[in-house]
Amino acid sequence: MSKSTVRAGSNIAFIKYWGVADAALNLPLNNSISMTLAEAHTTTTVEWHAEGLETDEITLDDKRLDVSAAARLVNHLDRLRALVGVDHRARVVSRNNFPMASGIASSASGFAALTVAGAAALGLDLDPTRLSALARRGSGSASRSLFDGFVEWEKGVDDRSSVAHRLHPASHWELFDVVVVVSTAAKHVSSAGGHTLASTSPLNAGRIASLETALTTVRTAIDSRDLGLLGPVIEQDALAMHSVMMTSTPSLLYWQPGTLEILQAVRNWREFDRLPVYFTIDAGPNVHLICEGPTVKPLLARLS
Ligand code: DP6
Repeated sequence: MSKSTVRAGSNIAFIKYWGVADAALNLPLNNSISMTLAEAHTTTTVEWHAEGLETDEITLDDKRLDVSAAARLVNHLDRLRALVGVDHRARVVSRNNFPMASGIASSASGFAALTVAGAAALGLDLDPTRLSALARRGSGSASRSLFDGFVEWEKGVDDRSSVAHRLHPASHWELFDVVVVVSTAAKHVSSAGGHTLASTSPLNAGRIASLETALTTVRTAIDSRDLGLLGPVIEQDALAMHSVMMTSTPSLLYWQPGTLEILQAVRNWREFDRLPVYFTIDAGPNVHLICEGPTVKPLLARLS
């Protein structure tokens, strides 16, 4: 087979991946836990050509990528080519069903779909764990998007052991991620650049040291579908990660005034309206609000 199409969901991390132990292999400093988003996904078709194509041709959301925009994806295609020992070129067509500026990570779903489609089209028979390791090389969080539901990425010690696995399938717990788009402007520093800065923050070691307990709590909260247990821990880790970002050298400040406005509003709605909703924030200004089904409607009413 030389052509394959795969769909992968993006994910939102409850305990964040922030900081690399090995930048070449994308080995993280800590385990992370996420929820794969069922409704925000990337669909990618990879078609390998033994001849007739001079370079890889990559089209993302109907736009053909130029050499510099395609470089990271071409590197990933090189990894796939190296596994089989071929120099075929690929035609890649990829589409997100969510806007790139929505605050939903497209690299997670994008590299997961590219990995699985690219490997399948080369005839590689790799299990999901091996594919997770391969996707991780493209983008760390993509290792988690190999699986639906609730997923943990074990930091591991080498390429083979740094892989994700499913904690529970999506059917285990219907949680929602309501994304509040504070700004659609592109970020100044990509997460790839930020990961190498984490260790320059004096707060980084403190965050890492506290994570064993946080990870245990998050696993227990997911096991028992307990949002009241989950929520405070995910808020704390998002704030801890942003504290590390802000105190890195150079400092990364992703928040906008609107970010803080939402955080304060959420805490007020919880305290005064008893609305069970909790926030988390990735490497950007937009806020992800995590809640259960009955909360979505009253939450949207307040947000609007
Ligand atoms: C803040 O996986 O996007 O979203 O490996 O450089 O592609 P690269 O980084 P990426 O980093 C994710 C950072 C985060 C937290 C998380 O998703 O765990």
